[in-house]
Amino acid sequence: MSLRLNVIVASTRPGRVGPSVANWFKAYAAEKSPFDVHLVDLAEFDLPVYDEPKHPRMQDYQNDHTKKWSESVAAADAFVFVTPEYNYHPTPALVNALTYVSKEWGYKPASFVSYGGVSGGTRAVDQTRTWFPVMKMMAVPEQVMCPMVFDQIKDGVFEPNKLQVESADLMLSELHRWAEALKPLRG
Ligand SMILES: Cc1cc2nc3c(=O)[nH]c(=O)nc-3n(C[C@H](O)[C@H](O)[C@H](O)COP(=O)(O)O)c2cc1C
Repeated sequence: MSLRLNVIVASTRPGRVGPSVANWFKAYAAEKSPFDVHLVDLAEFDLPVYDEPKHPRMQDYQNDHTKKWSESVAAADAFVFVTPEYNYHPTPALVNALTYVSKEWGYKPASFVSYGGVSGGTRAVDQTRTWFPVMKMMAVPEQVMCPMVFDQIKDGVFEPNKLQVESADLMLSELHRWAEALKPLRG
């Protein structure tokens, strides 16, 4: 059975450009990688600010929104977060979604398609990676960066350049190797 890659849209605000970038990456990954690729939009999960009474490691969730999010994360073998940076930091939606569950992230590799102004969202990526060890996630260093993303979106469609396509190839290949290698640990 194919390993499952969840491509997670990490911005949720009205008018966001995240889905344009994510739609390109999802289609590219589905065509070029062996993964079974799924688009996961945090906006659709509509998670409130963390509201579970118990530590997520206990997995004793009280709320339907948490149970639904837990199922989505648990089903994946690898993750790609499609994310901008807000004030040099990860989006509140991404921080919240990472916090909601714990074990479900474990022994799975993850990377990023980041975008924004001159920095291409990389400052948020660097910060988000520091969270991964506590969730037992493997931070794959290969990533895709999209500085000045607005110049690459026409009528809602993101047009990647050569470097971004090459970066996507490398990242997908490494993600898949790690996802295979960590399979015995996922049980
Ligand atoms: C609250 C907020 C903070 C932002 N901070 C940054 C930033 O630190 N660096 C940057 O390159 N762009 C920043 N931007 C501009 C974003 O790169 C741009 O709005 C982008 O479209 C955000 O992604 P989204 O449309 O998917 O939400 C910020 C935008 C918002 C709304």
